[in-house]
Amino acid sequence: MVPIVNTSDQRGRNLILVGFMGTGKTTIGKDAAKSLGFRFVDTDALISRNAGKSIPDIFAEDGEEAFRLLETEVLEECAKGTDQVISTGGGIVTRERNHPLLKQAGYVIWLKASPETIFDRVKRNKSRPLLQVDDPLKTIQEMLADRADLYEAVQDLGINTDKLTLDETLFGIVESARVALQLG
Ligand code: S3P
Repeated sequence: MVPIVNTSDQRGRNLILVGFMGTGKTTIGKDAAKSLGFRFVDTDALISRNAGKSIPDIFAEDGEEAFRLLETEVLEECAKGTDQVISTGGGIVTRERNHPLLKQAGYVIWLKASPETIFDRVKRNKSRPLLQVDDPLKTIQEMLADRADLYEAVQDLGINTDKLTLDETLFGIVESARVALQLG
């Protein structure tokens, strides 16, 4: 059963995608925005634009804590808007301050995947500072274990993408968002 988001209770008419790095939030979010006729916004892209530098440069020059502060600022801005698909960075749930913001912003879908699937998707990509380590699979396993309860706490719906094609995941997201946000 898809929970209905009552927009009169001050939750926004937005679809928010949360989940670990490499779960497809940005790729699927862009297509979901097209299908729903919503604007696509990506918190990492906005952070990078506001800071005038890439995410790896923010981590390297200013540190993770500075990145997290920028992330909350961007989320606060996004949460004020409407008719958006908001793709979030995988660590957005690590700050408790972000939890009410995510929930108020709208309907939150958690894209899930196993550590092995995630590793396979991210292993050639150097843009994720937290995974530039000797044993990325182990790091993914540990971080996922640490964060699972946090995703659980903010989600309205979780979708396990391991055995789904991108189109199947997209369909699940778009149709449940239509019901939850009561879109015609
Ligand atoms: C992070 C995930 C990244 C990005 C940053 C930190 C994390 O976003 O925000 O590298 O802590 O999981 P994606 O989930 O889009 O890769």
